[in-house]
Amino acid sequence: MKYRSIAIDGPSGAGKSTLAKELAQKLGFLYVDTGAIYRTVGLSARRNGIDPSDAAAVAAMLPRLTITMGYGEDGLQHMFLDGEDVTEAIRENEISAYASKAASIPAVREFLLEMQRRAAREHNVIMDGRDIGTVVLPQADLKIFLTAAPEARAERRYRELLERGQQADFDRILQEVMERDRRDMERETAPLRQADDAVLADTTALDLKGSFQLLRDIVREKLGAGEEQA
Ligand code: DC
Repeated sequence: MKYRSIAIDGPSGAGKSTLAKELAQKLGFLYVDTGAIYRTVGLSARRNGIDPSDAAAVAAMLPRLTITMGYGEDGLQHMFLDGEDVTEAIRENEISAYASKAASIPAVREFLLEMQRRAAREHNVIMDGRDIGTVVLPQADLKIFLTAAPEARAERRYRELLERGQQADFDRILQEVMERDRRDMERETAPLRQADDAVLADTTALDLKGSFQLLRDIVREKLGAGEEQA
């Protein structure tokens, strides 16, 4: 492969996107958040009044969809649904369940596969998701499985929502986290699981700074310190 790739997989709330984004900046790699792509499909289902668990209805919606990814002047990934910038809209709490349900439909995963692979063919990438090391980029130069206990992940999500001024109920969030884990791990197509050759990074007891240090140490050890630009 001409370009280098780092795959970061793990359950929701493990800090993948925050850490991957920061790491990408340090390495000068493009950060690709694949969850945002599934969220865009989820948003589309919601807007069209389609039940995200209805595989036939969601599959029928796909040919009418135009999903594109772009990078703003800020260097950050923006998602476009039929030309509209939906980067903010896909972060609504409600869209998480829509995305998770739509993501278990094989036709949806197939529809989004090439878009993800293309990014890695054209750039040095840090790509985060659930099946990057196992399905999307099995030849990635480095695979990291980033995880944390469900309670720690729910707590982070809870604080994040409060900081954004959104309503939050810890018990409900914990339940949602566990429900989403179950769906992501038990689905038949591309379930969330650690690739055999992935390095495990558990951040339960670590804050953001500690988690980032852990990831940097892994990258340094596996890819060599010379990779870093800053
Ligand atoms: O990372 P996230 O929470 O934004 O992802 C939203 C949903 O998309 C998540 O429940 C699982 C799904 N997803 C997936 O199945 N495969 C990926 N590579 C990324 C996300």
